[in-house]
Amino acid sequence: MIIAPSILAADFNRLGTQIAAVQESGEKWLHIDVMDGIFVPSISFGMPVIESIRKESGLFFDVHLMIVEPERYLDEFVKAGADGITFHLEACKDPAGLIRGIHEAGKKAGISIKPGTPFKDVIPYLEEADLLLVMTVEPGFGGQSYMHDMTEKVREARTYIDSHGLKTLIQVDGGINRSTVEEAAGAGATVFVAGSAVFKGNIIGNINELKELAEKAETAG
Ligand code: DX5
Ligand code: ZN
Repeated sequence: MIIAPSILAADFNRLGTQIAAVQESGEKWLHIDVMDGIFVPSISFGMPVIESIRKESGLFFDVHLMIVEPERYLDEFVKAGADGITFHLEACKDPAGLIRGIHEAGKKAGISIKPGTPFKDVIPYLEEADLLLVMTVEPGFGGQSYMHDMTEKVREARTYIDSHGLKTLIQVDGGINRSTVEEAAGAGATVFVAGSAVFKGNIIGNINELKELAEKAETAG
């Protein structure tokens, strides 16, 4: 079970301190949401921010690209310090080629699907991908409510991945908090992005609590 705090919900005035708190929690991932205002309505931040926080952080930078033509920016995100690059199936003409490119750069490759995209569309790429991101909100903004009908998609992905002996991690992103993390974990997700639920209040306490709930649900599930 991995909690991946999303800095989209951080206080950018204190970004360094807040990332240090994530590090102190013992969790190893940091989720970094890049939005271009075209694939999603909003614009967040890009390479300069990643480059800057890279200098002081040894966390696994899990970069979620909500941008059109993600292949155009692969080299730049690698240079900025990404460890894992997740792109959207809906935004990319040659997903297999991009996964290959990410691997050639020595990074982990993730592929993401929006709520409206059926699981079966991503099946051809699962064997090569290190991670499948099942969006549990419409991508674009933090602080939205978990879409409960996505739980079934997570379950479908878990069944497929296990029955085909694949190693692909299943990540969920959007509306993950104390009341929803168990549902997603019970369905088979193992990597949980959480923005508001981590950065509002006590960061370390929030992370520990979410992790505990996820682990409990996994054991029970
Ligand atoms: C949404 C982003 C998420 C966002 C999650 O498009 O991909 O990573 O930060 O925020 P919360 O956890 O607040 O729903
Ligand atoms: Zn995200």
